[in-house]
Amino acid sequence: MKDLRIAFIPGDGIGVEVTQEAIKALRTLQEAGRVRAQYKVFDWGAEKYLREKVALPAGALPMLQRDFDAIFVGALGDPRVPSNQHAADILLGIRFGLDLYVNQRPVRLLHECLCPLKNRKTSDVNLMIFRENTEGPYVGAGGNLRRGTADEVAIQEDVNTRKGVERILVYAFEHARSKGLKRVCMSDKSNAMPHAHGLWQRVFADVRSRYPEVESRHLFIDTLAMELVRDPSQFQVIVTCNLFGDIISDLGAQLQGGMGLAPSANIHPGRTSMFETVHGSAPAIAGKGIANPMAAFLTLGMLLEHCGYVREAARLEEVVKMAINSGRTTPDLSGRFSTSQVGDWLCEKLKQ
Ligand code: IPM
Ligand code: MN
Repeated sequence: MKDLRIAFIPGDGIGVEVTQEAIKALRTLQEAGRVRAQYKVFDWGAEKYLREKVALPAGALPMLQRDFDAIFVGALGDPRVPSNQHAADILLGIRFGLDLYVNQRPVRLLHECLCPLKNRKTSDVNLMIFRENTEGPYVGAGGNLRRGTADEVAIQEDVNTRKGVERILVYAFEHARSKGLKRVCMSDKSNAMPHAHGLWQRVFADVRSRYPEVESRHLFIDTLAMELVRDPSQFQVIVTCNLFGDIISDLGAQLQGGMGLAPSANIHPGRTSMFETVHGSAPAIAGKGIANPMAAFLTLGMLLEHCGYVREAARLEEVVKMAINSGRTTPDLSGRFSTSQVGDWLCEKLKQ
């Protein structure tokens, strides 16, 4: 295989700390001869933004597309930038700029003890969320009228295109088909948003008919939230719009043991894609060396799997599972180990 070219954007807060561990894991796999990769670290984040007023540097998008196969993001967000403008510029800038229309967020319970629900086996929580990643209210269409007055009007348009809806639905169904999964659930709010989500309904009717072997169903987003908590085992693949996907993927993260364990991928098939932990920069614990590096390990796993290293990705998940089983965890999982101690332990296991 050719050398994989990876751009690392550690970002802010604990993003920096967990990315360091992901890089350690990559180097471990490299030294063991299991992965061939080159990488470069970019200092994009709050520090640079405050210093130079630059979030995503000019020319960054074509450069990423040309020079890299994949992008790894730690986390972005800093209290010194209350608007979080730099985070939006970098994260949404890359998602939109590279047209990464699939936001794939797995929800997998790696150990029973991590689930906040009673009596759940690991096999009960194992699903994939596909979140549309380039449309909805996130496109930023709208504005404020009579701003700051008692008569202010705020408008945030929900943009849904036939092409945009169709490609994410097709991606979710293709995932189900290729993995032999039987159940796909599409979720929207077409009862309250008949224009925007009526389109989802119509495109769904069309797309599902092309996958007769898949059992597909629809749930309104409020019902989905309820059902995810009541019985997550009924779901294998969930596909939904940008905003609802954002919300239920946090719900999903908790079902599997918290943000410290949630990886994600932002994909456009065949193009440079971006992989990020679902957690934020966690300013409250930044710099303390106690952030859980497992989400970053699993995110590196998604990156490697996407780039063809399927066995190495499985191995990364396996060592994370081993660490949980043996209590080698950070305080968020009731352990007493530091970020780098957990990272070192995981890397030791990776070598074996
Ligand atoms: C996420 C985050 C982002 C989102 C924010 C930081 C804009 O919550 O990746 O889930 O809403 O997509
Ligand atoms: Mn989110």
